Amino acid sequence: MIVLGLESSCDDTAVGLVNDKREILAQAAASQIEAHRPFGGVVPEIAARAHLDKIDLLVRAVLDQSGLTLDNIDAIAATCGPGLIGGVMVGEMMGKAIAAAKNKPFIGVNHLEAHALTARLTNDVTFPYLLLLVSGGHCQILLAKGVGAYERLGGTIDDAVGECFDKAAKLLGLGYPGGPLIEQAAKGGNEKAFDFPRPLLGRKGCDFSFSGLKTAVRTKVEELKAQNLFFPIPDPRSPIPHLAASLQRAIVESLEDRVKHAFGMIDVQPTALVVGGGVAANSRIRTSLTALAQKHGVPFMAPPPALCTDNGVMVAWAGLERFRLGATSPLDFRARPRWPLQELQAGHA
Ligand code: KG4
Ligand code: ZN
Repeated sequence: MIVLGLESSCDDTAVGLVNDKREILAQAAASQIEAHRPFGGVVPEIAARAHLDKIDLLVRAVLDQSGLTLDNIDAIAATCGPGLIGGVMVGEMMGKAIAAAKNKPFIGVNHLEAHALTARLTNDVTFPYLLLLVSGGHCQILLAKGVGAYERLGGTIDDAVGECFDKAAKLLGLGYPGGPLIEQAAKGGNEKAFDFPRPLLGRKGCDFSFSGLKTAVRTKVEELKAQNLFFPIPDPRSPIPHLAASLQRAIVESLEDRVKHAFGMIDVQPTALVVGGGVAANSRIRTSLTALAQKHGVPFMAPPPALCTDNGVMVAWAGLERFRLGATSPLDFRARPRWPLQELQAGHA
């Protein structure tokens, strides 16, 4: 069984090809970072046009890489939300067009479910597992009970954690996208240099809050600028590595605390602690969660960093998980800018 997956919900155009032996047969992606960089964030119109420019070339590239033709593919999966709707529709329409032309089944994939299931492609993970889903637009803790069956234990009450990384990076003048740049800058910094707040630390439940942390970074940067102490990197007097490291530590400790609470909220023993989403590429976060999982007697499972950030393989895999349960989508299946995981049904799109 071979499934083609198309991803175009944010700023990566990506296509992947996987089979039911959990093999990645091919993958190709085009990043739009350069197109959005001057604006410091993703511009929806620019994103949609860039997806349109690239998606057919990427489909051709994965077919060439794998030596397969569309006739060898059993089903076509495309992200149908949540995301920037202009972009989502590019992948959705391409997927439906191939499905219609080749008379193959189509699967409308929820982007969050694609992040949630990636670890089942790359690691031996069975349900139920505790899942920390952390990306640019989402931040939630779920109990994954099956394909399409997610119990939400907590989520952010304001900004997503990736958004916090991205906005802080902008304040520090590091650029876009922020997460990897903060991680890089933090390597040369002292994570105890600044005492940033750890929002909701110790509070009941496992909700998150990151907007106060972002404000604290802004206040500190303004203070340092007013004192003429905000030297840019690579000036050895630059506070930026210390700010980045201290921010990263505050984020890590918040995530750790919230996941610790989540363990106490479930009445089943999960098989693993799993992470997904772009922020899960962060090695400091991965290290701290590995230790936390160990304390709770479960393995920590994380897809390789390149499969944590948006990619086509995860969409192909989520499509395959649904396809083998018989959960295909009609060709009039509607793309959705908002599409919470809880609105999925077990085994159905
Ligand atoms: O999953 P993703 O590629 O797109 C969304 O679905 O949002 O996640 C993108 C987010 C961005 O906020 C980016 O800054 C963050 O993931 N990110 C990271 C790292 N790599 C990407 N955050 C922290 N550390 C990283 N290494
Ligand atoms: Zn994503």
